[in-house]
Amino acid sequence: MIAEYPPELLAEVTAKTADRQLTGFVAGQGPLKPDLMLVGEAPGRHEEQVDIPFSGASGQELMGFIESIGYSRSTVYITSVVRKRPYSIKRVRDKKTGEIVEKHPNRTPTKKEVLAFAPLFDWELATVQPRIIVPLGNTALQRLLGNKANIGELHGQLLHEPIQQANEQHDGYQLTTEKYWIMPMYHPAAVLYARRLEPTIKADWQRLGQQIKEIK
Ligand code: URA
Repeated sequence: MIAEYPPELLAEVTAKTADRQLTGFVAGQGPLKPDLMLVGEAPGRHEEQVDIPFSGASGQELMGFIESIGYSRSTVYITSVVRKRPYSIKRVRDKKTGEIVEKHPNRTPTKKEVLAFAPLFDWELATVQPRIIVPLGNTALQRLLGNKANIGELHGQLLHEPIQQANEQHDGYQLTTEKYWIMPMYHPAAVLYARRLEPTIKADWQRLGQQIKEIK
């Protein structure tokens, strides 16, 4: 399934992000009631172009990890806390022509941008109803558990806790009364930047594969 977000929530995001450097819109994808809901940061350029979450270089790493525990793209739900591509504006000199050209590389979303998408994510989580939420990296982890949460400390640990959701005014967060199963993981791009993390990340995914059987 490709998420069909409620029009009023989409309109709210559009209004709140109109003056931001955000482009495109990539919907979350996957079955309802899956074992795993993988939550990334935001789509990158490749995802924006093909309209498929985690389809670029980090996506390839991610597919390797999910396949190593018996899942595939079609059996997990994949989304991120921000659904548009955040970009920065860089002016650089073209090496061949010498002309100044404008580039729009990917960037990490700001906290304000993550909050603008919070009601949309809350709706998605309530609709998808995964068994375990898997935040990938600090942006997704902190959206769910607050700014003090750190992936370096929490990766590979199974947690059962309330999570943050948008408050009634949609200008901040409040904790849910319900507890959720969460296993934070390093963002798959971490492997691309630091190969030394690969054994740790692989071991974390194996632990997730074991734990999912125990809480089924
Ligand atoms: N990083 C993310 O967080 N999401 C994507 O879809 C791609 C890269």
